Amino acid sequence: MKLLVTGGAGFIGSNFIRHMLSAYPDYRIINLDKLTYAGNLENLQDIDKFPNYTFVKGDIGDSHIFDKMEIDAIVNFAAESHVDRSILDATPFLKTNVIGTYNLLETARQKACIFLHVSTDEVYGSIDRGFFNEDSRLLPNSPYAASKAASDMLVRSYVETHDVMAIITRCSNNYGPYQFPEKLFPLVILNALNRKPIPVYGDGMNVRDWIHVNDHCRALDAVLHKGRAGDVYNIGARCERTNIEAVRLLLKKTSEQLGIDEQELTGLITFVKDRPGHDKRYAIDPSMIEGNLKWLPEKDFDKGVSETVQWYLSNEKWWQRIVSGEYAEYYRTQYGESI
Ligand code: NAD
Ligand code: TYD
Repeated sequence: MKLLVTGGAGFIGSNFIRHMLSAYPDYRIINLDKLTYAGNLENLQDIDKFPNYTFVKGDIGDSHIFDKMEIDAIVNFAAESHVDRSILDATPFLKTNVIGTYNLLETARQKACIFLHVSTDEVYGSIDRGFFNEDSRLLPNSPYAASKAASDMLVRSYVETHDVMAIITRCSNNYGPYQFPEKLFPLVILNALNRKPIPVYGDGMNVRDWIHVNDHCRALDAVLHKGRAGDVYNIGARCERTNIEAVRLLLKKTSEQLGIDEQELTGLITFVKDRPGHDKRYAIDPSMIEGNLKWLPEKDFDKGVSETVQWYLSNEKWWQRIVSGEYAEYYRTQYGESI
């Protein structure tokens, strides 16, 4: 199979390419990535010499970039992905997540190839009790979630109008190696290592449903090979935690691995002003992918968090380059100091 992966230099995309090259050594993968602040070729250093892997620097919004590519399937990860940045300026979110997806849909239409659109549970908005299923209404609350919901709607329209063989997945919050340090898990680990305040928004009681990135990648593999065109699949590991629970677990694991007193790190927790429009709880029902595609998550949360902490401790060179680069400026605007 000839796969075009977009946004493959980011967190989930790079883990997905690694998974696919290991599971299907005869597949050919083109990774098209714009290399925004979140794109990092060091995420793929161990595989960039594979003969069946090619990197192309480019923008999914460029309508001619795909002309000469032979493609059986597109897996679209390319996106602006951070809610806090979408609150500061939504422009790049609309350009990439909406117009970029439209351009990819036109490409999938012209090439009559499969289009797997990697979306998010955030398109459903917040739910106090119960769970969203694939037929729930889309009620996005952040500009990021609205841009992803808009892209999901475009995908649906191309299935209905142009018979594009498209599938949408909506996954919950991912954690694991190579996640950019603006996101909660790596931010907590790095701030703990650097003895910086750990910002917890509001009262820390917002709930997120966590899944290890490898389980997400295995789910996407199942959807790509066994999913039905036109369908939507929720992906989640039934692992809800309040933010403060997740932060405390991360600090427990970090202190254990550093061999220091846990209180030295929990003392860094700082409750800060809440994020505007902060969704209280994300919760999806993943029964459809579990039942129809026989996919189940494998990674235990406690073990996954330990391994993730260990990964950041062992890969200081990887994150040092990020925190001393462009990210340093963003961190200063958010927290008024450098990491
Ligand atoms: P990320 O920010 O780590 O990576 C995004 C990648 O897309 C980067 O490599 C970036 O350079 C690239 N990119 C951005 N704009 C581009 C453009 N115009 N053209 C080409 N490449 C471009 O994001 P992530 O966390 O890996 O998320 C990947 C996808 O999964 C996103 O679509 C996101 O909405 C979705 N998702 C993420 C999560 C999560 O918890 N991180 C959960 C569910 C769904
Ligand atoms: P994040 O990783 O940004 O993912 P999302 O907003 O897409 O769910 O944040 C996860 C949760 O952690 C979310 O409820 C916001 C919260 N959060 C904090 O409390 N402090 C922080 O510094 C960050 C980045 C997030």
